[in-house]
Amino acid sequence: MIPEQVIEEVKYRNDIESVISSYINVIHRGRNRVGLCPFHSEKTPSFTIYPDNQSFYCFGCGAGGDVVTFIRKIENLGYVDALRFLAKRAGMELPEETDNDGSARKRMRILEMNRKAARFYHDALLSDKGAEGRRYLLERGLTPKTIRHFGLGYASPDRYALMNALAKEGFTREEMAEAALISNGKYGYYDVFRNRIIFPIIDLRGSVVGFGGRLLSGEGPKYLNSSDTPVYKKSRNLFALNFAKDSGKDTLLLAEGYMDVITVHQAGFTNTVATLGTALTPDQARIISQYAKTVVLSYDSDEAGQKATKRASEIFAETGIKVKVLRLTGAKDPDEFIKKFGAVRFKMTMEGSSSATEYALDTIKNKYDADTPDGRLGILKESIRYIAGLSSPVERDIYASRLAGELNVSKDAIIMQTADEMKRKNREQRKKERNDLSVFSYTPGEKKDFERSRNIKAAVNEEKLIACMLQNPETIGKVMGMLDSELLATAAHRRIFEAIRKRHEQGAACSFTELNADLSIEDIGILSGIMAATGGINLSPDDIDHYVGAIRAAGNVMSKQQIEEMDEEEYLRKIREKMQKKQG
Ligand code: CTP
Ligand code: MN
Repeated sequence: MIPEQVIEEVKYRNDIESVISSYINVIHRGRNRVGLCPFHSEKTPSFTIYPDNQSFYCFGCGAGGDVVTFIRKIENLGYVDALRFLAKRAGMELPEETDNDGSARKRMRILEMNRKAARFYHDALLSDKGAEGRRYLLERGLTPKTIRHFGLGYASPDRYALMNALAKEGFTREEMAEAALISNGKYGYYDVFRNRIIFPIIDLRGSVVGFGGRLLSGEGPKYLNSSDTPVYKKSRNLFALNFAKDSGKDTLLLAEGYMDVITVHQAGFTNTVATLGTALTPDQARIISQYAKTVVLSYDSDEAGQKATKRASEIFAETGIKVKVLRLTGAKDPDEFIKKFGAVRFKMTMEGSSSATEYALDTIKNKYDADTPDGRLGILKESIRYIAGLSSPVERDIYASRLAGELNVSKDAIIMQTADEMKRKNREQRKKERNDLSVFSYTPGEKKDFERSRNIKAAVNEEKLIACMLQNPETIGKVMGMLDSELLATAAHRRIFEAIRKRHEQGAACSFTELNADLSIEDIGILSGIMAATGGINLSPDDIDHYVGAIRAAGNVMSKQQIEEMDEEEYLRKIREKMQKKQG
């Protein structure tokens, strides 16, 4: 735990405007500053800095928070690491830098060792001994420039080459083992990577955090990957993101393997990354969606690759990023495709890559024989199940029409069946949610907007109430006495409200900046949105009764529970009825 005063001091010494303007260009607009948002791609600035309350908010993508949130997002760091980063920037020493358990020192040693190891492998590749490795890479079409750019290396068949080299540099066996560079077997320690091409894995700060190795010849697994170490988590890193993040594109290409990424980069598409010998994880999906608006899946065309494609699109569905699927014909993977057909054709294929929906429906169609009644029924059933899962009504309608045309059945019939299927899915989902508390702890963007728009009146009043409490902290006690967080209509507001209540009960100060430490990045974004929207307005404590009343009244009209259990059509009908009553 870092003491509160120290955190305050770090923030005080890192003025938000000066920190942010070291990353982007900002211009004055009244009291505030605006610039192009570094978290999404845009042409007109919607990213705003508020020096008055030391916060930022982007009206384009909803990113927002204080200086620590900004550093967390842009440097991809945890809360404490972001504080350390800022402390260092301001020339302060954090008390924990005394490093009681030695873990910070250990991490530094491992990073230093990794850097030395990468250099050792790279030098070996360029030396006489590395001839086989060089020949292999050149035969696979890599240029010397690419080999240097990625810092590729060569591990000889020698069991002790790296171990001896690192021992000369003063590293112990235990340290090397902890870095997953050597392993302890029946006959003692030996190098993990032997007779392999080495791919260093570099994080966003430019540190070598791990390695991948491809077998050159003989027995053994084709690829080996560093296991997790104190500086490396496979599930949270992506190969080549250190380069891809600077590609200036709002699309990222996700490939399966190291060689795919390298060939694709060499062909000019530097916005390509790969997972590290594992299937895509939710963490990786979140990282990718921080850097891009669209992800293009370019997995292998074999069955395993197709399965992985399906799984990955499911994982990305949670993040709200747009997913496209690259369908390569005539080659097994992007690497092979580029070699066979060239970069121009690859680019054309990429530009024509279909949406995840088209791809999924195509896959279903190819599974059956559309010339038989059974086959057509199979396509119909499975496609309807898929269409019912689409969140956009427009999309559902488009694909229902298309399916009707293709199978020559009436569109109405398809729409009706889709509606039935949706009801069934909703029931199932609610049942699942009741048994699964975790859905309450994470609210993806879409759900949030959905909730807000369904409860717009309550939501707006909740937002004003929250802003009012932060502007007039002396009113917090009163509000807490009047309103239970359970009565709020949107989950994020409930969490923010609870965070305020907790601080208040502990007698701690409760400003926007302090709340940042208690909230998730998503909720900080929402809170910044509220602050930005109410920034220039003085919210008077006199209006609190009005806000609370409106929230209560909304709650009386339709309880949260009722809304959750109602499907879209039902809800719209209710609203229409209400409007008619008003007019009539
Ligand atoms: N992989 C792995 N362990 C293996 C095989 C594969 O970790 N035994 C991972 C690696 O990250 C590899 C990716 O899966 O980059 C793709 O594997 P694969 O399609 O088999 O290899 P290619 O990329 O086609 O490799 P190459 O072109 O070098 O044959
Ligand atoms: Mn390959």
